[in-house]
Amino acid sequence: MKKVLVTGAGGYVGIPLCRELLARGWHVTALDRYFFGTDKLGDLSANPNFKLVMADIRRVDAAWFKGMDGVIDLAGLSNDLSAEIDPELTRSVNFEGGAVLAKEAHRAGVRRYVYASSASVYGHGAKTNLVETDECRPQTLYAQSKLHVEQQLHALKGKNFEPVIFRNATIFGLAPRMRFDLAINIMTLRAWKDRVIYIMGGGAQWRPFIHVNDVVRVMVQGLEADASIVAGEVFNAGDEGMNYQISQLAQFVLDVIPNVKVHNIPDDPDKRTYNLSFAKIKDRLGFEAKTRVHEGIVEIKQALDRGLVSGDDPTGYTLQWYRSLIDWDKRIETLRIDGKLL
Ligand SMILES: NC(=O)c1ccc[n+]([C@@H]2O[C@H](COP(=O)([O-])OP(=O)(O)OC[C@H]3O[C@@H](n4cnc5c(N)ncnc54)[C@H](O)[C@@H]3O)[C@@H](O)[C@H]2O)c1
Repeated sequence: MKKVLVTGAGGYVGIPLCRELLARGWHVTALDRYFFGTDKLGDLSANPNFKLVMADIRRVDAAWFKGMDGVIDLAGLSNDLSAEIDPELTRSVNFEGGAVLAKEAHRAGVRRYVYASSASVYGHGAKTNLVETDECRPQTLYAQSKLHVEQQLHALKGKNFEPVIFRNATIFGLAPRMRFDLAINIMTLRAWKDRVIYIMGGGAQWRPFIHVNDVVRVMVQGLEADASIVAGEVFNAGDEGMNYQISQLAQFVLDVIPNVKVHNIPDDPDKRTYNLSFAKIKDRLGFEAKTRVHEGIVEIKQALDRGLVSGDDPTGYTLQWYRSLIDWDKRIETLRIDGKLL
């Protein structure tokens, strides 16, 4: 049985990805700090082909890679805002952690290495229809960290090391570690709960979108595809028909949840705008999205209607959750006497 190490396995993408890999016959080692809780793994933990490793990518251990046919790296501070909380933390996790993980996998002889980069690397896109060879103009530390690891992977690639880089579009849809900090997910929640949609920064900014289950398919293809197709390659991960301006998203949500007020907030410190070409991933991997934005909104609304997901779970807001963890850490530290809290 083939073995894969998935880092960031307890996250929004990680949990459905582990489930899919197990279904496809992979033996999965799921490494994560599990900052969002191991409870979200559900029945995965009971699968005999699933091994949970609670560890930090900053303290890499060569034993993690023993016998692995591939690594999928999803670990780290996973959006632009979380990566701004503490630049030192971002440097140690996203820059150094990501780079050292790749280096150690290479050293250990792992062949295939799939990296979850981000379309954010294009930053303020100079034009529409950006292709993989176009200039990247990262606007944030998060985007810079993704480019940094990409560069490390290019430097390591060779006959025995096959990195595959996916610059993922912004993800939407339901998953056990729900993320209500992502554009479509939060717009749907606000419309459903508060009957309001906020459009920040004018709404003309472009973003490509992809459903979480489609990202899972992309990652699996990166792991399983023939080296002649993917080794050493960078792919924009998304679908040609799914670049939207933020104001268009509001209309999609209104189609599913009507009678909602739309508030335009002209200012937004986030200056990112990018519209991508997905011709390469379609040509080389035959990839097309299976789930459209409308279906993703319906799926979230139905889950909210049925009480299967809640906007009240604090782990659904990445930035705020990391801030809380940092805050608790500080509080607990000041309360300890002789190393004990209570
Ligand atoms: N969600 C999106 O829209 C999107 C878009 C483009 C790229 N990406 C990238 O895809 C990957 C997965 O994203 P996600 O949405 O599942 O994010 P997520 O935050 O849900 O998952 C990231 C996981 O990494 C873990 N982690 C963080 N620091 C760690 C450390 N030091 N050691 C070990 N584990 C650590 C967290 O506990 C978490 O489970 C990330 O690299 C993200 O940057 C996501």
